[in-house]
This record gives sequence, structure tokens and C-alpha cells, in this order.
Amino acid sequence: MSASRREVIDVPTASRAYEVVCGRALLDELGTMVRPLVKGDSLLIVTDSHVWPLYGQRVADSLRASGFSINVFVFEAGEAQKNLQTYATCLEVMAQSGLTRDDAVVALGGGVVGDLGGFAAATYMRGITVVQVPTSLLAMVDSSVGGKTAVDLQGGKNLAGAFLQPALVLEDVEALATLSPALLMDAFGEIIKHGVLAGPELFNAIAENPVTAPLMGAVDCSALDFDRMAALVSANVRVKRDVVVEDERESGLRQTLNLGHTIGHAIEAASNYTLGHGSCVAAGLAILCRGATAHGLTPAPVTRAILRCIEAYGLPTHANVPADAIIERLRADKKRHGSTVNAVIVRFLGDVEVVPMDIDRFAEIVRAGLSS
Ligand SMILES: NC(=O)c1ccc[n+]([C@@H]2O[C@H](COP(=O)([O-])OP(=O)(O)OC[C@H]3O[C@@H](n4cnc5c(N)ncnc54)[C@H](O)[C@@H]3O)[C@@H](O)[C@H]2O)c1
Repeated sequence: MSASRREVIDVPTASRAYEVVCGRALLDELGTMVRPLVKGDSLLIVTDSHVWPLYGQRVADSLRASGFSINVFVFEAGEAQKNLQTYATCLEVMAQSGLTRDDAVVALGGGVVGDLGGFAAATYMRGITVVQVPTSLLAMVDSSVGGKTAVDLQGGKNLAGAFLQPALVLEDVEALATLSPALLMDAFGEIIKHGVLAGPELFNAIAENPVTAPLMGAVDCSALDFDRMAALVSANVRVKRDVVVEDERESGLRQTLNLGHTIGHAIEAASNYTLGHGSCVAAGLAILCRGATAHGLTPAPVTRAILRCIEAYGLPTHANVPADAIIERLRADKKRHGSTVNAVIVRFLGDVEVVPMDIDRFAEIVRAGLSS
């Protein structure tokens, strides 16, 4: 892929059709791309205290050059800020900035910024346009696409939210250069999951010759092969696109994106959120596949290939959490319907199925996966 090449991925959901533009050196073109999508002349950039000093000026300059007037809401970086208070302040800043229904929010940052900025846009004046400019790998491959927006409540993560598909997602993979290697590696939990959903071609492209190899011992991600990253990110966006276009509101197929998540969330909570989300998803996927193999649901060679891939990215295949703590969380999981859980089971690479299952049977699978 040459430095100027970009991929444009169409996302024709029922509520809105939009493009994800992915490639290198794209940030300076944001204004040109946003101009035809927004009727008004006013934009609010929502971003966090890490991302604003790195990319804020470039983004604001590009938007101003296309005739927009810009206001900025910067909040302290971190999941702890994805709460009702920050959300309320964001709405007040929108009102004070005089944003109208014709104007838009530009969410510049990781998944926290995308979720919070998106939720503010979804609810301000009953919904205005949002443009997502993800800068973390997780946000590029996952959270910026598909229209889920939310903030956390004291009662749990992402409990207050709305669906709002963006008008545009602009992904400049060169922004990943400033990310910490640990955070980038963690996102591979979701990327490996996408590979399992997509099938052998993408799975093998991820598993063979890990793109993260140059980052061993590095302080940032500037040594990445950005052409390869652009191809990998685009492929991941297409996987998520194919699922959300089919099932925008998670009534069926979209549940397959939860592969590894039921156990992963339980591990995340049991670790008191000290383990990264991607690492927990990777461990959840590994435990699920081992347990499903023990119960004759996932072929052993498929599980072995998935475990090898997770290990190649330095992600965990086990969780140092007692089985009972996980199972207790499963029982409280919000995705549980009565006494059944929707277990997402890998039949083969590229063949993943949502299987409604009695919670006691799922607990047996988890126990088998934890102990093998
Ligand atoms: N909406 C969805 O469908 C969806 C899907 C998955 C996850 N999520 C949400 O996403 C959030 C996690 O996203 P995340 O991992 O991006 O977390 P994050 O937004 O907290 O970003 C992680 C850290 O990286 C920093 N950062 C981001 N881009 C950077 C860059 N280019 N250079 C340097 N630092 C940078 C951030 O400031 C932050 O400190 C969670 O809140 C999760 O619930 C949402």
C-alpha cells in the first residue's frame, strides 16, 4: 500500500449510510471531508487531555480552513471520566457554543471520547450529527463504527446510551504512532476476535508474523509498519461493518461481536479493571474455546490455532481469577435472559454461532476452560 492510498468502506446501515475512510496522513483532510456532510458552520471538537495536545491543532486548522467555526471541549483522559458529569458538562458546552441542529460534534480520541461525544450528539436537541475521528487502535477497529454510544453509571459500564451512526469515520493510522505499545497490543484481543469471526484469510494474516513485533521494548508505536496497519485496520472495519449492517441494534448477528466478552467482562470486573479490556477478551476467548472443545463444541485444532495467535501477541490465555468469581458475574450479567445465556460458540474459523444455553451448562464450559 502506498503512502497516499486509502480505503473507503461503505457502511449502509438502516438508519444512515456513511463512509469509514482509513489510511495514512488523513487528518489534514478532515475539513474537506466534513464540509459536505454538515449544513451548519459550527462544530464542537470533543476530545481528551492526551489527544488534544497531540492532534487538536491539526484537526481544528483543517476544519477552520473549510469554513467552520470551532469550539473545543477537552476532558481529562480515562474511563473514569466517561460519566454523567462529564456528559452533562459536554451538553452545557454545546449549548453555550450555540450549536444548532444543523451543526455537529467531532469526536477526536479513543473509545472513551467516541462514546461520550457520540452520546452527547445523540441527545443534544434530540440528536445532531457526529463525526468520529478515532485515534486509538481499539476505537479504529471497533468502537467508532456501528453507532453505539454510552457513558458509565455507578451501577455499571455503558448503562446509559443511545444508537447514533456517525456521518463519517476518519481513521488516520499514523495517529497510532503516539500510542503506548501496551495499549496498542491490548486492542489485539478484539482484532483476533474479528479474525475468528471473519475466517482463515484474515485470521492467518493476523496470526502470522505479528505486526506488533517491532514494538518490543519501544516507548511508543512509531516503529509500526503503517501501511500494514492501514490494511489490517481496514480489514477489521469491514468485519464489523458486515455485522452491524446486517443487525444494527444487536437483535441477532451483532451478538457474535460479543465472542469472548461474557467471560472477558467477568474477568475484567473480577480484576477490578486492572487488566486491559482486550486482554480480558483474549483470555475470555481462550477459556471459552478450551471449554467448548472439552464439551465437543469447538474442534481442538481451531482452539489450538486461536491460543497460539493470542500468545503470539503476548496476551493472556488464562485468567488468574477463581472460577466462582467469574460464574457469579455471569449470573449477574446484563445480557442474561432468565436462566439462559447467549453463548457465542466458535464452530470453525469464520463460523461463529449464538447458542442460547442454560446458565448451568455455560458454567460447566467455563469451569472446563479454566481448568484445562
Ligand atoms: N461503542 C462501542 O461500540 C465500543 C466498543 C468497544 C469499546 N468501547 C468503549 O471504548 C472505550 C475504550 O477505548 P480506548 O481503549 O480507546 O480507551 P481510551 O479512549 O481511554 O484511550 C486510551 C488512552 O489512550 C489515549 N490515546 C488515545 N489515542 C491516542 C493517541 N493517538 N496517542 C496517544 N494517546 C492516545 C487516551 O487519551 C487514553 O489515555 C471503553 O470505554 C469502551 O467501553 C465502545
